[in-house]
Amino acid sequence: MHEGVLKPTPANKALHPVTTPESIFRSEQILQQAFYSDPTSIILQGDVKERLRFLAEQGLQVDTIVTSPPYYGQRDYGHDDQIGLEEHPQKFIDELVEVFELCKPVLKDTGSLWINLGDTYWSGKGAHKSGESKQGARRFGIRPQDRPGDGLWTRPKQLLLMPHRLAIALQDAGWLVRNDNIWIKPNPIPDQVRDRSSVSHEHVFHLTKNRWYYYNRHLVGRTMESGKMLPPLDTWMAPTSNGGSEHKASFSEELVRIPVLATTPDNGIVLDPFNGSGTTMAFAKKYGYRSLGIDISSHYCEIAERRLTETAAQTDVKEHSK
Ligand SMILES: C[S@@+](CC[C@H](N)C(=O)[O-])C[C@H]1O[C@@H](n2cnc3c(N)ncnc32)[C@H](O)[C@@H]1O
Repeated sequence: MHEGVLKPTPANKALHPVTTPESIFRSEQILQQAFYSDPTSIILQGDVKERLRFLAEQGLQVDTIVTSPPYYGQRDYGHDDQIGLEEHPQKFIDELVEVFELCKPVLKDTGSLWINLGDTYWSGKGAHKSGESKQGARRFGIRPQDRPGDGLWTRPKQLLLMPHRLAIALQDAGWLVRNDNIWIKPNPIPDQVRDRSSVSHEHVFHLTKNRWYYYNRHLVGRTMESGKMLPPLDTWMAPTSNGGSEHKASFSEELVRIPVLATTPDNGIVLDPFNGSGTTMAFAKKYGYRSLGIDISSHYCEIAERRLTETAAQTDVKEHSK
């Protein structure tokens, strides 16, 4: 075996995933359904489960899925099929597990799934009395966590541990949990509380289908003075995205940097099944990857479209991130 030639072990084979052909990524059937498309990006509007089934039928497979599903009880996106306002948090977890089961056939066996999810406190206080415009914009009558609850884990003041419940449910459904990355927010939204700490972190889980998967540590590792390359840390400091996007719950590009760069091979495809304002897609486009986004809201699809038309691929960005 010559130097530089990898032995064909399962681990080394995973470092060379098969490239999804353009004839599938930009097939007539997919482009016909697109809300927006350009040579490297496609947005599909619609319910995530229905759209994932459609992509699986087309035989499309992606390398990386990076997403932030709606958080439980935080927003009303104004659609009957929206996820996030289920009466009981267990139903919300079941919905998300179903969505990520539908992701399995669309994700290559060498692929990675990254999920950012914030937590929710049960309040049990009844409908919000505040006339805050923020509440109005959320279109809530009563949020699910404002109901009396079942007295078990849905009781007033309870931190529901939604990210952990989701990760364990996905583990039970066969996913391999590789990391529980912690997003540390230096500028958290102030908490009006007197008897607990203020929340300033969220979770970004890294999950895979298999033991061997694509991972390029050279684009995300930490180079020591000795020249030795160490893996990235599982604590990521990134400000919350405020004002940069019209989407009220968009995440910052820094949150998708390690997921996209580490687990997407050259010419690979990144999917965000809860695309919102298109943060994942904009980052992927900038770094020369192909991408697909799904969102139920035509309003957010329009915002993502605008963002993508304003984003140009930058040929030298990968070099700079090394
Ligand atoms: C937390 S936001 C995603 C924000 C995104 N990461 C960004 O940077 O803008 C969740 C998104 O899920 C969408 N959504 C909610 N229910 C959905 C469903 N059933 N199918 C598809 N999208 C859905 C919402 O419209 C919303 O844009």
